[in-house]
Order: sequence, then structure tokens, then C-alpha cells
Amino acid sequence: THQWRGIIEEYRDRLPVTDTTPVVTLREGGTPLVPAQVLSERTGCEVHLKVEGANPTGSFKDRGMTMAITRAKEEGAKAVICASTGNTSASAAAYAVRAGMVSAVLVPQGKIALGKMGQALVHGAKILQVDGNFDDCLTLARSLSENYPVALVNSVNPVRIEGQKTAAFEIVDMLGDAPDIHVLPVGNAGNITAYWKGYTEYAADGMATHRPRMWGFQASGSAPLVRGEVVKDPSTIATAIRIGNPASWQYAIAARDESGGFIDEVTDREILRAYRLLAAQEGVFVEPASAASVAGLLKAAEQGKVDPGQRIVCTVTGNGLKDPDWAVAGAPQPVTVPVDAAAAAERLGLA
Ligand code: F0G
Repeated sequence: THQWRGIIEEYRDRLPVTDTTPVVTLREGGTPLVPAQVLSERTGCEVHLKVEGANPTGSFKDRGMTMAITRAKEEGAKAVICASTGNTSASAAAYAVRAGMVSAVLVPQGKIALGKMGQALVHGAKILQVDGNFDDCLTLARSLSENYPVALVNSVNPVRIEGQKTAAFEIVDMLGDAPDIHVLPVGNAGNITAYWKGYTEYAADGMATHRPRMWGFQASGSAPLVRGEVVKDPSTIATAIRIGNPASWQYAIAARDESGGFIDEVTDREILRAYRLLAAQEGVFVEPASAASVAGLLKAAEQGKVDPGQRIVCTVTGNGLKDPDWAVAGAPQPVTVPVDAAAAAERLGLA
């Protein structure tokens, strides 16, 4: 009966909770760190995937949400609100149910994956589709939380970052030290901020001998950190990271510079290639935005930026079931056969 207890119980002394804090958890975290054979061969490195799609609502957001909803509960909030490209809203909706709270979510109209919309709906969130992009949704959510009795649970809420930093702890605990390089997709830039904080705290306490270089990747049509300016009309098939004005901009730049890393872009085509490689060759089904980390690693390797022999962790942030359209699109239609072994065998190329 040794079940993982969720990130707050597992890392209690490193998180802003007290003995009386009412912990709201779905036992998030404790996600698999999976050795990636094909990526290791391609890069000459030891590559691991931190599979965050294995969290209770299917993305890394649960790490931050257990903290955000726990603290909102502690402070007596009755309702929470967030802006989201889909995963934050799914997570907020689920954790609000656990806490007995009402959740309200603001999503960009027509730009969130169906699986994520289904999650928010089935968990009973109040959903508003905003006639605008994620950045507009966040502006609206901030304004509502400042003027009405509703707590903001986006990653501009610092306790979200506290929860998400535990992924770095888990990686160091598993590997026995920090990796040499950590690769992440970057959207609103909360997660790269959180990992850097986690690695920094662990190294400061002697839990790791060093900190990794942080490599972040944005989608080319939504790459404000690469361009150095806000992108007014962000576009990419990776809807989760379709963000033109990341809230944690300065923290992401600090993580990049303090770690000696970089933030670059990958095209939608590169994202989809990595998405298919992960599923077809590593057996790991992620959503398109998650594949940006792996697309970036492969791009860097092709550019000769990856010295062999290093230990590299790529975070794959969300489950492929969230957005299966891209798995089905362009794939051959399954054939229909009668209930007949000979016909089935022939179709399968067994006969
Ligand atoms: N990958 C996935 C699957 C995401 O859902 C997000 C962000 C990111 C990567 C980027 O992380 O924003 O911390 O840089 N999704 C947010 C949402 C914006 O609303 O679900 P980030």
C-alpha cells in the first residue's frame, strides 16, 4: 500500500504549506521518466522523457493546480478562474470539484482541443469562449479576479510555479543528479520558470551537483521570446502554446541566461514530425505542443549543438489523447473485413 501521495505530501517541506493547510490532491506527480532509445541513438546522448501526460488530468498543470487550489481553499475562496489554451482549464475544473468550488474558465474561441473542452465540461466548469486569443483571455481573467470574488489560478499566481517546480525534484531524485540539459516547450513560460526554480533550490541544498542548461522551444508562429517582441496574432497547430505575450517572459529569459541555455523556435512541420516519431518509435503519445521539446532537441542536434555523451531530459507536457485529430489526420483509414480469419490474415499480410 505504498501509493504516491501527490506532490504536496511528497515534497511538503519544500512547498508553501503548513500542518493545517487543507491539501486538495488527485495524487499528481510521480510521473514516469522514460529512457528514449531512438532519441538517444540519434543524438549520441542519454535522453529521457518526463511523461507529464501521466498526471491525473493528463498534463503537468496538475502539479501547479494542486497547490493553487489548496491555497485558494485555505484562503476561503469559493470560486476560481483561469485563462487557458485548454490544459489549465481541464486541471482547474477537476481540482475545483475536489475542493467543492466553482470554476470559471476563459478559452480562446475555436482554438482549444476537443479533449480539453470535454474535460472542462464534464467537471462542471463555467466556460466562456472569448472572441480573442489566450493573451486576451488572460487579461480578462486578471481583471475579473481583481474586481470580483474569484481567485486567479493561472501561473501568474506564484504558488502554481511552486507546485510545478517539483518535476525538477523528481528528475534529480530519479537520476541521482541534475541532467546536463533540460528541454521544454514554452508557451506562457511558467513551466520553464518552475523547472529552473526547482533545479536551483535542489542544487543550493546539495541535492544536485549542478544545474542543467535550459533549452526552451516555441512554435515558429508563436515565438515572442525568440523574436524579442510580442506576437499580436500568434498561430500554430500546437494550440496549447499559441501564445503571443507570455506572462513569465522575464523569468524565462533569466532561466535561459543564468543556465547558459537558449530559447529557439520549431516549425509546425518539425513539431508534427517529432510528434509522430515519439508515438511510432518511442511508444509515447503526446499532444502536439509537447512534441516541441523533442522537435527542438532534434533541430539542435542537426545544427551540431548537441555534444554526445550528455544526459538530457525532455519534458513532454500533455497526453496525446487530449487532441487526437493530429493522430488520425493523414493516417491511412483502417480497412473493414468480414468475420473471416483468411481474409483478415491476408489484409494483415500474414498469409
Ligand atoms: N505544453 C502544454 C501541453 C501546455 O498545455 C502548455 C501550456 C505548455 C506546454 C507551455 O507551458 O505555458 O508554462 O510555458 N498551457 C497553458 C494552458 C497555457 O492554458 O493550458 P507554459
